[in-house]
Amino acid sequence: MSSRIAVFGAGYAGLVTGACFAELGHSVAVRDVVPEKIGALQAGNVPFYEPGLEELLERNAERLRFTLDVAKAVEGAQFLFICVDTPPTYAGDADLSRVWTVIEELPPLSERMILVMKSTVPVGTGEKVRSTLDARGLDGVGYVSNPEFLAEGTAVRDFLEPDRIVVGAFEEADSAAVEGLHAGLDAPIVRTDVASAEMIKLASNAFLGTRISFINEIANVCELVGADVIDVAKGMGLDKRIGTRYLRPGIGFGGSCFPKDISFLKLLAGNSGYHFQLLNSVIEVNELQKRRVVGKLQKHLETLRGKTIALLGLAFKANTDDLREAPSIVLASRLLAEGADVRAWDPVADASQVLKGVSFHENILETVRGSDAAVIVTEWEQLRSLASAETREAMRNPLIIDGRNLLDPVEVRTAGFTYEGVGRPTSPLDMLPETEEPAPPVSEPSSAREE
Ligand code: UGA
Repeated sequence: MSSRIAVFGAGYAGLVTGACFAELGHSVAVRDVVPEKIGALQAGNVPFYEPGLEELLERNAERLRFTLDVAKAVEGAQFLFICVDTPPTYAGDADLSRVWTVIEELPPLSERMILVMKSTVPVGTGEKVRSTLDARGLDGVGYVSNPEFLAEGTAVRDFLEPDRIVVGAFEEADSAAVEGLHAGLDAPIVRTDVASAEMIKLASNAFLGTRISFINEIANVCELVGADVIDVAKGMGLDKRIGTRYLRPGIGFGGSCFPKDISFLKLLAGNSGYHFQLLNSVIEVNELQKRRVVGKLQKHLETLRGKTIALLGLAFKANTDDLREAPSIVLASRLLAEGADVRAWDPVADASQVLKGVSFHENILETVRGSDAAVIVTEWEQLRSLASAETREAMRNPLIIDGRNLLDPVEVRTAGFTYEGVGRPTSPLDMLPETEEPAPPVSEPSSAREE
């Protein structure tokens, strides 16, 4: 059965949610406060990079509307999905001001409507929203927590083929109504109270972050004892109790979710009287992991002052243009502070406003030209062919630090590079001094974008 849905917030979560509900046959009005965003969507353009989303919006155009106007979005809607940002405050708690604005802006309603919280919020938010609605005389408005588990880059698939759908409600009828919207999707439904649904979201992200920090530490120990973390993770992950996913060591987790949600959960526990010790370590390990590349570069190049370092990939992971909490930002800042010249490339993320003092280049070869080291920061497919003769010739010193274990160490070393991944044994070859005279630095091409 087709329902009428309003979605507030046209970010990654809101737009994917709106487009996917339209795909399921519902009629959807997406509302945002940013005129440029709504203008772009009305003109058929997606304001950010998310694979598959543009096609989905196009295919369901007749069931989708975009508006700045609250009243128009809400008119006739049976459900209002709140998909607004909940960024961290200076104290690290969730800034819920955008959520409260949605509630304040709700016009008087003639028919029952269900507010559905998709934004990630601290446990207890649902209770507070419920009391506020009641205090405003909106006791006819239902409230359901239905957290999103959409990873950027695979968000459309994650919505349409979910592992589970979590519905936390105060009233059984509201729970059933929200469940009904997902008809057509094949996934177990977890029906629960509102607080538990809120906790499922925070605990899931915190657990995945914990796995990553754990495997990063295992990788760091592997480097010291001569084990290979790729085999270790495989050998661990095939144990069904452990599972293979989220055991990829790397350069630290980033993005707008894991760092923020882990901090939310830690503070929520602290504010409620419990010291969540484990999460402190997860956060600290992650911060140190982002900086380990600097140590590896120093091992090979000694001082970084005056050295040229190419950062390949800037987005916090592949298949997104999102730079929020990207390890590249910390890494670039550290390298600049060490006195290095930093050159950077990313196929979609534009970091020119975030990374001052870094030069940006249109392609990989131009980025590595004249560099003393190339660092794989984001696992973009385009970087798989990095260890070519062309790259070797263009670099002043053929050193590759692979922050994502994207390349095959044997192939890279055979191609004449010094190589270091994460948690992989170093080859005795990597320790040999350079036998060739370094090539003279090559002057910058005029097409390069300088910042
Ligand atoms: C994450 C969750 O995966 C989603 O389920 C959730 O809905 C979303 O947060 C959210 O709360 O909105 P996302 O931040 O888009 O999604 O990205 P992930 O693919 O989960 O990756 C997060 C970070 O962990 C990235 O920096 C990634 O490179 C890193 N990562 C991931 C690793 O370092 N190793 C791994 O094995 C997996």
